[in-house]
Amino acid sequence: MPQLLDSKIGPRDQALRDRAKRVVPGGMYGHMRAEGLPAGYPQFFARGDGCHLWDVDGRQYLDFMCSWGPVVVGHRHPAVDDAVLRQMQQGDCLNGPSERMVELAERMVGLITHADWALFSKNGTDATTTCVTLARGATGKRKILLARGAYHGAVPWCTPHPFGVTAEDRTHIIYFNYNDAASLEAAVDQAGNDLAGILVSAFRHDYGHDQQLPDPAFAARVRALADANEAALILDDVRAGFRLSLHGSWDQIGVQPDLSAWSKAIANGYPLAAVTGNERFRQAAAQLHVTGSFWCGAASMAAALATLDVLEAENGPEHMRRMGQRLRDGIAAQAGRHGVGVRQSGPPQMPTILFEDDADYARGSRFVLEALKCGVYLHPKHNMFLSLAHTVSDIDFALSVTDEAFKIVARL
Ligand SMILES: Cc1ncc(COP(=O)(O)O)c(C=O)c1O
Repeated sequence: MPQLLDSKIGPRDQALRDRAKRVVPGGMYGHMRAEGLPAGYPQFFARGDGCHLWDVDGRQYLDFMCSWGPVVVGHRHPAVDDAVLRQMQQGDCLNGPSERMVELAERMVGLITHADWALFSKNGTDATTTCVTLARGATGKRKILLARGAYHGAVPWCTPHPFGVTAEDRTHIIYFNYNDAASLEAAVDQAGNDLAGILVSAFRHDYGHDQQLPDPAFAARVRALADANEAALILDDVRAGFRLSLHGSWDQIGVQPDLSAWSKAIANGYPLAAVTGNERFRQAAAQLHVTGSFWCGAASMAAALATLDVLEAENGPEHMRRMGQRLRDGIAAQAGRHGVGVRQSGPPQMPTILFEDDADYARGSRFVLEALKCGVYLHPKHNMFLSLAHTVSDIDFALSVTDEAFKIVARL
């Protein structure tokens, strides 16, 4: 039975927001601000377990955001948390890396088709920035091509939020449209003989828009243009990596990058990022000075080794695809029955659900808020995330809730 909740902010959540307003900029910053969600969404959480979350007021949710991607085998997965605890008993932050770093680099080189080496950092932005710097260092050239609207991190060369960013920060960035070979060719022409790299997301997953899978012909063109210009093809696999495939998200379409950026799902929520590269970039990667105080943390690397074992043993990407497809088929049938137009896009493991005639996202917001009241945590604009912990009965529970939410949206 759905757990009926009201959609008011809970008293503990409200009290924490009030305290935070005094000591945290804006009460909260960045993409995890509850103010970016319909009123009623909690800001603060107490715990997670499998595919469930509890907010600080004790309200339980079936989770379709998975911490915005990192939680891939389920909150507090025992195999991952045991590996972390074992490592913590030995030490986490030491005077250099532990054995875990070599084991993890070997594991990633073994799994990821294009990878001959791996280096580690903490956040996705570290990894994308390292890839860009490495492309420039290795080629001796400056221009980096990015798709308009793509998210690659929260630093001046790529943040979508221009506050505090100068034109000079972007002097050597040129934009193209994802899946549009003509616009990519124009950007390559503009770069002339100064093209260092082309950075592409695994698929088009821009905030608030329908998602687009990569057109294989476009991907092949990216590869050919990078080769023709002796530039790097950089794949930003931070969001999709290890959810769509354990071998790299473009492996399925037969296009291998030179460099890939990884983070989010790599260690099931423990902080870790990685850059993988091919032989061509090995020498340059050895020359590059990249580092951070916490980048060798052994506990996160132990978590990553355990996460990859679980994903491989249980064929995680395929399980998430099947659960996501069940959700998608159910939503499509309900939308049809209720006469509500919805657009579902992206890979089933990372679904986006947008409503027709909903430029201000009012219908989508009402839909997710009705679902939230009944204990299902969805997002009205961003892609969502399945995990290995979602079962058929979880998806069916979610669908029983969305059926009711559709009834309400149909009346709007
Ligand atoms: C595709 C992509 N690249 C890079 C990043 C930046 O990662 P982080 O927030 O860990 O710095 C994100 C984060 O959402 C992302 O989705």
